[in-house]
Amino acid sequence: MHKQLQRWTRISLIVVYLVIAAGATVRMTGSGMGCPDWPKCFGYFIPPTDAAQLEWKPNTKYSEGNVIINNERLLVASASFTTNDQFNIDKWEPYTKHDYAVFDAKHTWIEFINRLLGAVSGLAILILFGFSIKWIRKKPIIFIFSLLSLLGILFQAWLGKIVVESNLLPMKISLHMLMALLLVGFLLVVRVASKSFGLSKKPSRKISILLYSTFVLTLVQIALGIEVRQYIDAQVVRWGYDSPQYWLAAPELSFYIHRSLSILVLLANAWLFVSVVKEQLEKFFIRVILWLIGGEVALGIAMFYFDFPFATQPLHLVVATLLFGVQLYWILRIKLHHYDLSF
Ligand code: HEM
Repeated sequence: MHKQLQRWTRISLIVVYLVIAAGATVRMTGSGMGCPDWPKCFGYFIPPTDAAQLEWKPNTKYSEGNVIINNERLLVASASFTTNDQFNIDKWEPYTKHDYAVFDAKHTWIEFINRLLGAVSGLAILILFGFSIKWIRKKPIIFIFSLLSLLGILFQAWLGKIVVESNLLPMKISLHMLMALLLVGFLLVVRVASKSFGLSKKPSRKISILLYSTFVLTLVQIALGIEVRQYIDAQVVRWGYDSPQYWLAAPELSFYIHRSLSILVLLANAWLFVSVVKEQLEKFFIRVILWLIGGEVALGIAMFYFDFPFATQPLHLVVATLLFGVQLYWILRIKLHHYDLSF
């Protein structure tokens, strides 16, 4: 049975990372409002592929909630009915949550795939939760963190709706991202608690301190990065998607702190690497961490000095969340191991 638990924790983690990547792609392509309503998309389970599908048509059956675009505004069918030859406004209600009314098939389908992946992650976590119930007495930590993951993904779904209804308020996007990190954290606890690892050497106090400090530094970098992203979002509104050369033409202080702190992040992790080598501990995690930081810095440099080349924005976010995941997993493996949480 615990094999299933391990399998579904792994699947949940992979799908959650795919959702993070899809969410980042939604932002890069400006597809956030590709589906202006939630959970359906223009009132349909499978969204339209052509703008003509959203035009009012005579002698056509509409179901309650179906959406049309009329005079640059969204109208929602107030009940199921069939149109006759004349457009009758009484059958339609204006969509009031925001006034965004544009259809772009590419944006709609990118946002729709993002939502589909979100639904798959919800299903994976629900199955994981089902398997965790068996461990409620034997190892409550597994059940508790599976439950937290389930509540986390439900909260994420609700937050996704709020983000769309707020017409992509930057603060709400940031909260959505922080919640995704928390979800990764919950799943990693389930993973570590449900797996047995061979006995490893106990790291020294110095390594422990370095481990925590480098993790805190990553969290600070992520918080600053979110601040930078909110600033970029405002610049995109000002200059448009096609003018990335202006987005960081006069950056705020938070950008310079974010950029320079990377040097400290790199040095602290290099110190951790040297200490791990000296104490002859497993080098795998710190190696991966250093590669991820190197990649993150390279992507940051590309964005700033080469005007946001294709895919650098979502990659910068995905690498940051991977870095967070690997560091936390390493810490959990070392720390939880000593409380004998493994099978
Ligand atoms: C350890 C190093 C770094 C980490 C962990 C990190 C992390 C992050 C995170 C989490 C974001 C928010 C992404 C989002 O919400 O979409 C971000 C944004 C950003 N970071 Fe970094 N970053 C690092 C280094 C750098 C460096 C060295 C630079 C520049 C030279 C840089 C430039 C940027 C820029 C321009 C943004 C805004 C990206 C956007 O609009 O999508 N970062 N960073």
